Amino acid sequence: MQYRRLGKSGLQVSEFSFGSWVTFGKQVDQSDAKTMMTAAYDAGINFFDNAEGYEAGNSETLMGQALTDLGWSRDSYIVSSKVFWGGAKPTQRGLSRKHVMDAAHAALRRLQVDYLDLYFCHRPDVDTPIVETVRAMHDLIQQGKVLYWGTSEWSAQQITEAHAAAREWHLTPPTMEQPQYNLFERDKVEGDYTPLYDTFGLGTTIWSPLASGILTGKYNTGIPNDSRVNLPGYEWLRDMVQSEDGQARLEKVKDLAKLADEIGLPIHHMALLWCLSNPRVSTVILGASRLSQLQDNLKARDAKDKLTPEVLARIEKIMDNKPAGPQRF
Ligand SMILES: NC(=O)c1ccc[n+]([C@@H]2O[C@H](COP(=O)([O-])OP(=O)(O)OC[C@H]3O[C@@H](n4cnc5c(N)ncnc54)[C@H](OP(=O)(O)O)[C@@H]3O)[C@@H](O)[C@H]2O)c1
Repeated sequence: MQYRRLGKSGLQVSEFSFGSWVTFGKQVDQSDAKTMMTAAYDAGINFFDNAEGYEAGNSETLMGQALTDLGWSRDSYIVSSKVFWGGAKPTQRGLSRKHVMDAAHAALRRLQVDYLDLYFCHRPDVDTPIVETVRAMHDLIQQGKVLYWGTSEWSAQQITEAHAAAREWHLTPPTMEQPQYNLFERDKVEGDYTPLYDTFGLGTTIWSPLASGILTGKYNTGIPNDSRVNLPGYEWLRDMVQSEDGQARLEKVKDLAKLADEIGLPIHHMALLWCLSNPRVSTVILGASRLSQLQDNLKARDAKDKLTPEVLARIEKIMDNKPAGPQRF
């Protein structure tokens, strides 16, 4: 496993990390969560991603129990939570000082840890002044309950405002963003955020590197019964796959699969390595509904040399979706 700095911070994060959205508490039970986290940790993964909104907190409960059972030294791993979707009541959601504080304390209890390494604002909250959220994050850091705070799916403008507020009030600015990034979703990471990498030293912990599994090719000939898009509550994902845009994506996946075949790589390894090939990516968060997928995806690292400049150029030609504006690297 190789490690990258989280933006300009000194934190070394494994290039592949492991997340629990959809899976822990839904497709993955307590025992399998422990087994999968062990496989990840043994392979060198040091970052485990979570959120208060995943399975209404149950995902954090499973991860916390696994961390306690496994007994790894607390200084050997990084664990995150995210605040935004904590419940239905007005005080249980968003980024007010109250909810940021309440959610942090609840995550600490569920994860059974004394501090969160990374704490993300899961989405922007237009009903809370940014400085209120920045101050709440700063205070959590001062209290030793959070080490680094960040955002998820904020615009470059909102991240810039957070930095401006931090500078004005001598507060701690955000260190990292958690955007979606994969062969289909490139606009934020390669477009909007481009000025932020050098200006603020922004780190990125990117999500859905396989576009929820679409980039494995498993949806090319229909929807497998045991896949994410068949789960109750994820009908929106199924609709997305079946939409006109979704079908157009599958055509691209078929073309990518041919290229992957030609260079002797499974398509999902090619898609994961493509994410890693962008040096602005601090870590690629893997998702897996079973151990075999995680083990399979981890093997992508053995084939890094297959993603030559020529192959990257051919991927670019197939995708034909490079964001306009600043260059990628
Ligand atoms: N900040 C945010 O807003 C946000 C949003 C989403 C995710 N995240 C984070 O990012 C992590 C990763 O996102 P993701 O789960 O969407 O990643 P992903 O890699 O795009 O999708 C993972 C899913 O694809 C399928 N899959 C993965 N590897 C496979 C393989 N080798 N063969 C066949 N199927 C395979 C599995 O689904 P099935 O087996 O069910 O088909 C698996 O659960 C999450 O766990 C979470 O921590 C953050």
